Amino acid sequence: MTVHTGRHFLQIPGPTNVPDRVLRAMDRPVIDHRGPEFAKLGAEVLEGLRPIFQTRGPVVIYPATGSGAWEAAIVNTLSPGDRVLMSETGHFSNLWREVAQRMGLSVDYLPGNWRRGASPEEVARRLGEDTAHGIKAVMVVHNETSTGVTSRIAEIRKAIDGAKHPALFMVDTISSLGSMDYRHDEWGVDVTVGGSQKGLMLPPGLSFNAISEKALAANTTAKLPRYYWDWQEMLKPNRQGFFPYTPATNLLWGLREALLMLNEEGLANVFRRHQRHAEATRAAVEAWGLEIVCEDAQEYSNSLTGVFMPEGQNADRLRQVILENFDMSLGAGLSKLAGKVFRIGHLGHFNDLMLAGTLSGVEMGLLMAGVPHKAGGVAAALASLVESRQSEIPNAKREGSILLR
Ligand SMILES: Cc1ncc(COP(=O)(O)O)c(C=O)c1O
Repeated sequence: MTVHTGRHFLQIPGPTNVPDRVLRAMDRPVIDHRGPEFAKLGAEVLEGLRPIFQTRGPVVIYPATGSGAWEAAIVNTLSPGDRVLMSETGHFSNLWREVAQRMGLSVDYLPGNWRRGASPEEVARRLGEDTAHGIKAVMVVHNETSTGVTSRIAEIRKAIDGAKHPALFMVDTISSLGSMDYRHDEWGVDVTVGGSQKGLMLPPGLSFNAISEKALAANTTAKLPRYYWDWQEMLKPNRQGFFPYTPATNLLWGLREALLMLNEEGLANVFRRHQRHAEATRAAVEAWGLEIVCEDAQEYSNSLTGVFMPEGQNADRLRQVILENFDMSLGAGLSKLAGKVFRIGHLGHFNDLMLAGTLSGVEMGLLMAGVPHKAGGVAAALASLVESRQSEIPNAKREGSILLR
């Protein structure tokens, strides 16, 4: 067995690489979660999360993974038998539908081909037909992690408004939050579901609901049973920075540090960085002559890229060759894409050279696994990185002796 040296490359689309600063922030004794030091920490992170969701409203934090926050969004706003409209975007929309069905909801599921986001036109059509307002919620995955396709949330909001439909709007941002522009308030989202382990650069174990006033109002009449997920039980102690049960104390220290880091960089710069890395990755994939799963350029994900293998080639074998030889983990194809697709995560704590290393690992893997492809993917990505960096530095091109061109 190869003994690996240096750092493992964790280039799955989450959990992502955790910065040393965040690891150090969590490496401390557990404190009393009912004491004054905790109250300060709790208040700080509850407040600090709001700008990440671009909301002025409350955000609640669960000691749970994203799936818990999915369930929380449903049980806090809906009643048994309620109809909801969801769009098939991939593996994760399928799973959220499953949660809804198990909670006793009736799901109208708009079919999709896993290469496009939710269709604003289809949502408009379905809501337009629903003149009796039987549909109680529209639920969309913003960034479908199984494919690398985003849905156009602002346009779906317009579709709901255009149909003058009162349905709640719920959005899963688990793999876009803190990586791609997302505006809970401006886009009129009622419940946003988030998780800690991707753009927020934390280990798994925290998840979030950002809640609109309309969702809070729906909460007072929603009849689905709830205890652990109950927003009211959570919001009361949250006012003093406390939780109704034992919070994930040390993860919250990590969250505090991650929020500081995102603030230091500036959210707009964080989004721009993810965009540059996504563009460079796509340049590599196109140069290799491989096919990107997302088939509409306006729906490309900036946090991951899903790539089809050439006919007859197995993605899991390629991933195995890369893991064994170069100590890098890439995302597997999920459910119906198993073996056919691999996913390159380029989100969270990441920089140009980490991307260069990641794509080099993929290119070497393609060579070693004997996967037919064209040469030059990494070179294309490096050119893209240089070009986008130069365009960001004022007057850089005039100093051509230092920077390329
Ligand atoms: C878009 C999306 N939604 C939901 C989930 C489920 O979250 P978790 O695995 O943290 O429960 C994931 C996990 O990767 C995801 O990517």
